[in-house]
Amino acid sequence: MSDPSKHATYSSARARLDALLVGEDDWIAALATIASELHGAFGWFSWTGFYRVARPEMLIVGPYQGSHGCLRIPFSRGVCGAAARTRKTQRVDDVSRFEGHIACSPDTRSEIVVPVLGPRGDVLAVLDVDATRPAAFDDVDGDELESICRDLARRFPSGELRR
Ligand code: SME
Repeated sequence: MSDPSKHATYSSARARLDALLVGEDDWIAALATIASELHGAFGWFSWTGFYRVARPEMLIVGPYQGSHGCLRIPFSRGVCGAAARTRKTQRVDDVSRFEGHIACSPDTRSEIVVPVLGPRGDVLAVLDVDATRPAAFDDVDGDELESICRDLARRFPSGELRR
């Protein structure tokens, strides 16, 4: 059974985001606002933010909320790299069992990473959310975060580049 309060929390976070992002054409401002709203909405998100594809095959951190993250992650490494490479959401219930997990914080026990895909299937960024308890994320988080990332890509089909 999914938690109805989680649906409600996502729904009000999304309503706030829709209002906040009306008319905004700056990609970084949008990413920062999404990271801030999600991190504030869910007290148990220990790290919430984006890695942008700002160089070929390279993820560069930010904007985010939480303690410092690794600055750069190649597509070949970590959960974030796997999401960028496969263009599929990666949900990891126990990071200690994920080969190649990059431990930015020793407290992270589980995480979910969702790719932000442009109109041609190109990866613009990934949204990474971490938690300090194992198996913290479920299908609701996957569906909701994917939906937020789809909306983001619709607003910013070229990612870093202005519309
Ligand atoms: N855990 C990630 C690294 C980024 S931090 O969690 C912020 C990974 O293995 O890709």
